[in-house]
This record gives sequence, C-alpha cells and structure tokens, in this order.
Amino acid sequence: MARILITSALPYINGIKHLGNLAGSMLPADVFARFQRARGAETLYICATDEHGTPAELAAAAAGQDVATYCAEQHELQKAIGDRFGLSWDWFGRSSNAPNHRLTQHFCEALEKNGLIEERTDKMVYSVDDKRFLPDRYVEGTCPRCGFDKARGDQCDNCGELLDPVDLIEPYSVISGSRNIEVRDTRHLYLLQTKIEGKIRAWVDSKAEGWPALTRGIAYKHLDEGLIDRGITRDLAWGIPVVKDGAPRPGFETKVFYVWFDAPIEYIGATVEWSEATGAEWKRWWRTDEGATDVEYVQFMGKDNVAFHTVSFPATIIGSGEPWKQVDRLKAFNWLNWYGGKFSTSGKRGVFMDAALELLPADLWRWYLTANAPEGSDTAFTWEQFQSAANKDLADVLGNFINRIVRFNESKFGPVVPAGGEPGPREQQLYADVAAQLAVLTTELEAIEVRKAAQAVRALWVLGNEYLQEAAPWTAFKTDVDRAAVVTRTALNLAALYGRVSAPFIPFAAEGICKAFGEAWPPAWPGTDIAAELSRLEPGRAVAAPDVLFPKILDEQIVEWTERFGGAEAG
Ligand code: MF3
Ligand code: ZN
Repeated sequence: MARILITSALPYINGIKHLGNLAGSMLPADVFARFQRARGAETLYICATDEHGTPAELAAAAAGQDVATYCAEQHELQKAIGDRFGLSWDWFGRSSNAPNHRLTQHFCEALEKNGLIEERTDKMVYSVDDKRFLPDRYVEGTCPRCGFDKARGDQCDNCGELLDPVDLIEPYSVISGSRNIEVRDTRHLYLLQTKIEGKIRAWVDSKAEGWPALTRGIAYKHLDEGLIDRGITRDLAWGIPVVKDGAPRPGFETKVFYVWFDAPIEYIGATVEWSEATGAEWKRWWRTDEGATDVEYVQFMGKDNVAFHTVSFPATIIGSGEPWKQVDRLKAFNWLNWYGGKFSTSGKRGVFMDAALELLPADLWRWYLTANAPEGSDTAFTWEQFQSAANKDLADVLGNFINRIVRFNESKFGPVVPAGGEPGPREQQLYADVAAQLAVLTTELEAIEVRKAAQAVRALWVLGNEYLQEAAPWTAFKTDVDRAAVVTRTALNLAALYGRVSAPFIPFAAEGICKAFGEAWPPAWPGTDIAAELSRLEPGRAVAAPDVLFPKILDEQIVEWTERFGGAEAG
C-alpha cells in the first residue's frame, strides 16, 4: 500500500481561524488522514503556522508584543484549538523554526546556481514616519481614474482599476495615516519564472488530468496569463534572512524572504521538525532519490491558494533541479460564506474556532462542515442549516439508534452482547445493504468527495434505524427470545461498526462508541465481508452505554446565537 503524505494550507499566525478556514483545508485533510490511517496506509499529516510577513508584524505591534513572542503565543493557541477540534496532525510546525530557515536559504542558493535568481532595483513606497516600506495594500490614496479617496495601492475598490501604488494621488500609510510618503529605490531578489515557464507548464500538464476541475482551471488560467519574474525578498525585519555563502548577503542585511516564498517550503520544514522531534526519517517522504517515489502527496487548500501551489511553489521546486517530491492530488475548496457575506474578523461576523467550541462539541461542527463542505461552489453557513444537520443526522439518526439498542439490550439481556439464534433473511438483506453503502463510502473518501462521503456515512446510519424498525426486537422478545437476541446482537454490532466508519468525521463520538463496545481505538476500516464485520462482538462481551452522544440544539439557542454572532442581517 502506498504511503500518503497530506498537507493542509498553513494558517496565518495572526489570530484564531474562522469556520471557513477550517472547512476548506484543515478539516477535510483530517478526515482524509483518519480514513487513510484506518485503512492501514502509512500516513503523515503535516501542518504549521505561517508566521512571516507584514500582517504578523502589525498584529504583534497592535498586541503590544514583540513579534517573536506574539508568534510563539499564537502558535500555541492555534495548536491547542486544533487539538480540541480533533485535527490529527502528525506535526504542527512553525514556518519561523530553524529547519525552514535552512531549507528556504538552500532553495534560493540552488535556484541561483541554476541561473534563476537576479538582483533588481525596484521603486517602492516608503513611509518615513513608519520607517518602513509599505506593501501595496498598506498604501491608500485617491484613485487617478475615478477620484475615489480610499483606493488601495493594488486596486481601486470603487472602479476596479488595477493600480500601482506609485500611481495614487496623495498616498498615505494605512498603518499610521501619515502622508509623509516617498518612492525609494530598493534592491530585491527575483526568481526568473519566465525562464522555466515551459518546464512548469509541462509539469502541470503531467499532473492536471488527476486534478479536480477547480484546481485545473486556476492553474491554467494562471499559466495562460503568462508568468512573470517574481520578487522573493522584502524590506522587513521579521522573516528568514537572505544569505550568500553562509553570510548575510551584501546589500540584503535588512531584508528577508517574502512570506509566500518561505511558507510552502515549511511543508518540508515541518516534516524535518517532526523528524527531529521523533527520530523518524523525513527524506523518505520528500526526496524521490530517498524512497519518496512510493509516496502519494495530497494537498488541501482554499481556492485562493491554488495558484501558489500549482505554479509558484512548483517553480521553486522545479527550478532547484533537485529531486523533491511534488504534489500528486490537489484538493481545492470554494468559500464557506457567512450568510450572504464573508466571514469578517474586524466586523465580528461569523464564528471562529474558539467561540465555536464554547457553544458546542467539536463533532457537531465537524459534521456540519463536512456534510456541507464548500466543494462544488461557495456555500453559506446558516444557523438553521447547522441546527438541522446536527439535530437530524447526529441526534435523531445516529445517536437515537445507538441509545435505543443499547438501552433495549440492557433491559432485556443485561449489559452484554446476547447469545442465541441464527441470522436470517432480514440480516442477509442488511449485510447486502451495508456492504453496498460501505463501498460507496470507501470510494468517496478515497476520491476526497467530502460531501458525498458524508452522505454515504449518513445512509449507513439510516440503515440501522430501518433494520430496528422492521426487525422490531421488542416485539420478537415476547414470542421468540432467540430471534430478539439475533437482532439485538446484529444491531449492537452495527452500532460498533458505526463507531469505526464515523471516526473520520466525528472522532470524539466515534471514540466513545468504539470504547463502549470494546473496539480498538483508533479503529481499523471494515473489510468487505460484512457478515463477519457484523459478528465481531461475540456473545458475552460487555457493552457499556456511551454517554449522551450529541446534545440537541434548541431553537432558543439559535435565536440567541443569531443575535450574538450577527447572522441574518448579513443575508
Ligand atoms: N497562510 C496562507 C493563507 O492562509 C496559506 C499558506 S499555504 C503555504 O492563505 F503553503 F504557503 F504555506
Ligand atoms: Zn477608481
């Protein structure tokens, strides 16, 4: 079986992520990782915080902290929240850690050896009072086309004109409001993507057939627009220093690599961190000359990240001329919106990961966000849909089935799996139905069709309720105890199977279910012999009642949360 390397786009360090970030990268990656581990594939799921760049510096300043302290704290916070959401990273690294410094500097050196790095002088906007160069979106001014007085340096939001910050009339710093702005010359390193455009396109051609339409479309749009040489350094203090021959690169002492140059390299860097912490070998995951040809590498990300992962990062790798493992499957997601609009940190619209866990257990969010994954198109979160998904699917279908059969068993047979009777035609029918749905579930998970996979697991839960309803052990018990025992035993086995197949989606409840039935945790994925899978729990095995699996979301709560999180008025 292949080894599976999984990465999800690295969340920015500045602040707790909202549910849209979770739904479009980390959560589906986790579902896939849990599935692959259950299937017995050697799996490595890597993520990290993306810590460099102007936003991190400014967020630290706003928090009154130095940037290193700020990042260290935010990293711990994001890691703790990820853990509480059940994100089963094998390693959650930091792009500011030493391995990424070494690797990023190494890639630049390799690119330079191959003639793909050039020093160029740029004109950039400098804020004298802020004592720093301003990235495009930190400069605003009057639009030369329409006169709008809050046009951003990269684009006018009023008329849509694409701008260069030096075009703005009366520009000012977004950071301080200062109009003491100059255009200064500054030297930067450029990665000459134009020189390797053909190689990048050939690589995309070799991969694109296996990519989903969303990924493929974005990659070719970017290529067809024509690549430009890309500045990979910035005038900033916080970041990875630019070196040459082991010493600060002359003229670059106050510069660092651009955050988008070093961030994807941290996929490798975080794997090195993992290796250093655990003693495991990292090269067999990343170097095709060291065994990584056996690896299938799967990336997860929102659609805004696709161009960076299909063109920019591949340019770094291809340009290095070194045998690095590259992405095989790239799963991209659309946006999860908040009602009609966007999630907004500053506007306090939407639910963020920490607030979500104060309201309800992680599984309820995980279920909603996978069952409604923004896969085919953008999707809007609404409290009503969330309530309905959690209450109907989890409480009414899955939770109800498990509680019913466990309670019935306890009252009639005691807290153990009952003996007696032989499976009959209704059980044969159940085996066939479960086998068919399980095959669908397995196929959809393998294909990373998140919504379809959630539908399939729900269809499996529904089979249990139908079976109990028809086989009605409570009726059989009055006339034929053996028959009641077979049905109860089969249903208990089915409940245990639900614990195993639901684990990728709702790991906390699944763990409770598996443990209640004495099944291993983490569980193994069921095989195709369903008669055997539904006879695993032998007569006499102790069955504990799992705790209340899923709380019901009340209408009053929906009213309260709609008010508190600014819901409906945005729609
Ligand atoms: N931090 C970026 C974002 O949130 C994603 C970086 S992905 C990486 O959009 F690969 F570049 F790290
Ligand atoms: Zn304009």
